Amino acid sequence: KNYNIAVLPGDGIGPDVVKEGLKVLQALADADASFQFDSTTFEWNSDFYLKHKRMMPEEGLDTLKNYDAILFGAVGDPRVPEHIPIWELIMPIRKYFKQYVNLRPIKKLPGVNSPLKVDGNIDFYVFRENAEGEYSNSGGRLYQQTNEELAIQNTVITRQGVERLSRYAFDYAEKHNIGEVVNATKSNAIIHSMGLWDEVVKETASEYEEIKVVDVYIDALAAHLVQRPESFDVIVASNLFGDILSDLGAALVGGLGLSPSGNLNPEREFPSMFEPVHGSAPDISGKNIANPIAQIWSGALMLEHLGREDLAGIVMRSIEDVIEAGSVLTPDLGGTAHTDEVGDAIVQAVHKR
Ligand code: NAI
Ligand code: MG
Repeated sequence: KNYNIAVLPGDGIGPDVVKEGLKVLQALADADASFQFDSTTFEWNSDFYLKHKRMMPEEGLDTLKNYDAILFGAVGDPRVPEHIPIWELIMPIRKYFKQYVNLRPIKKLPGVNSPLKVDGNIDFYVFRENAEGEYSNSGGRLYQQTNEELAIQNTVITRQGVERLSRYAFDYAEKHNIGEVVNATKSNAIIHSMGLWDEVVKETASEYEEIKVVDVYIDALAAHLVQRPESFDVIVASNLFGDILSDLGAALVGGLGLSPSGNLNPEREFPSMFEPVHGSAPDISGKNIANPIAQIWSGALMLEHLGREDLAGIVMRSIEDVIEAGSVLTPDLGGTAHTDEVGDAIVQAVHKR
């Protein structure tokens, strides 16, 4: 099948790592006639914003709608206010395309050092709610510059929103014979929104006979993830809690350079988007030392979503080969290799498989 993939490299290290991600996909296409793709690159980034006062053209979302998937790098530039790329590019894509599941695998690959001494395998998934929750633009500020100044930021939790997210996580758990799902919550303190959240998670779980839900308060959960990360399989979390837990998880398994994510529209009514968890990393941008593995791994998540688990597996084993060999790694993993050298090494590994 021939897939059409929209590519948004973004800013900073985004274009560098996206280039390597595409290289690996191309290597797969070269080796396997049943997987072909066309990619179209859209330079909707901070330069675009400085020129046009917007992050994408007016018809941007309509343009993206027709693609099978979106491969995204990272955005963020010191010359543009921080909230602009998020609220004018990433959020509109996530919301308009109903990408309500943010999938974040936390998996320690063989050969990667964790800052923790862990006996078992660290290998779990955070399913983060991606379309509502704490990241809303509802609220406001009053009495500015007075002693009475106050800010209100509303959290929006809907029955439908929690149900569809938890259903996706339970389906995943069921498919992989996982008997326990951890629900990240704080309903003891955040009574209205988290109260509804817990209720709907529990109700949805009742449809899955083999699955038990365990509610764990977010503060305790953060501690448990450090103390015994190997004991987790599936975590469901709200937008904010999931954001924090997945960065914590990333730190346990080698850092942001090794952390992929998928923004999924499970109904496949719209394209899903795949991106590394990290940002544009202005501190190392232009030096050709960014680790491209998070981006390449995000490409593997895309392949899985497109129904090519076989190719995703090849990418993952190729990444593991390169990490285990240990000779071509970027500085974040203790090596001295450049971004493109790591990409090339993974392409070599793909060709050997
Ligand atoms: P960041 O993820 O860009 O960088 C944090 C630290 O991790 C830096 O020291 C960076 O050098 C390092 N790092 C990140 N990716 C790496 C990689 N692939 N290889 C090696 N080291 C890597 O987060 P930061 O510095 O907080 O934000 C920088 C910009 O990125 C900001 O404008 C922020 O808004 C934006 N951002 C964008 C995201 C996105 O596009 N989804 C996500 C997070 C931040
Ligand atoms: Mg984050």
